[in-house]
Amino acid sequence: MLVNATEMLKKARDGKYAVGQFNINNLEWTKAILEVAEELQSPVILGVSAGAAKYMGGFKTVVALVGAMIEDLKITVPVATHLDHGTYNDSIACIEAGFSSIMYDGSKLPIDENLAKTAEIVKLAHAKGISVEAEVGSIGGEEDGVVGSGEIADADECKRLAETGIDFLAAGIGNIHGVYPANWQGLNFEALEAINNATGGIPLVLHGGSGIPEDMIKRSISLGVSKINVNTEKQLVFAAAVRKYIEDGKDKEGKGFDPRKILAPGVEAIKVTVREKIELFGSTNKV
Ligand code: 13P
Repeated sequence: MLVNATEMLKKARDGKYAVGQFNINNLEWTKAILEVAEELQSPVILGVSAGAAKYMGGFKTVVALVGAMIEDLKITVPVATHLDHGTYNDSIACIEAGFSSIMYDGSKLPIDENLAKTAEIVKLAHAKGISVEAEVGSIGGEEDGVVGSGEIADADECKRLAETGIDFLAAGIGNIHGVYPANWQGLNFEALEAINNATGGIPLVLHGGSGIPEDMIKRSISLGVSKINVNTEKQLVFAAAVRKYIEDGKDKEGKGFDPRKILAPGVEAIKVTVREKIELFGSTNKV
């Protein structure tokens, strides 16, 4: 069932668990994630970056793929199709294409411009029942080989962004996208607590969910995190499983060259990761 992410995240916040945002890249990833969510009776958010959407053909292709798959696979759990880190123009395009949820990321803009643009997006999205995430305090990560540490969001700026009417808020607390460097300082729980206290109960979003130790995940949920984004960990297990298939020479045995067979170990690996994350986040049987 395709829904926006507002209700599922309010419920998560009240129930002290988090809903996973699992990024998709193609048909196989979409199917794997939907099947695990249905198996565990968990709500789920399919994250789609503009780059992934472009790869798949465009925003409309994503909407059609997810919608048809929910129907064909008889997926009954709540599913949101969510634009990940959208620009202003991507956000508008997704509102028009039929996404049920979007993230407008104005975190690199001066705060007043971020607030103004976010408010505009909220108005357009809410008119169509689409949920909105926005961000302040940019999330670090690897860019051109340079690993930046995650920025810490200012609690007062978070409060102002929450007041634009967004449905959930991404705030940097030392989290970064990609693999965490060995000398990573960990999440800043003092900052998270201050943000949680300042923003009056809005569900908070933790980006860069790959590789964060379990105890930090649990503590962040106890401090208002209700949505956790995971991408890199799935990419790593997918790549390793497909590599093993090829290195074991399986593509050269019988009909092992069938693309469905080549990708199958990767799909199984993603399913294991998604299952583990849903269980860790506590959203099993929370439909
Ligand atoms: P990771 O790739 O580090 O899991 O981060 C995913 C994410 O935050 C997408 O917005």
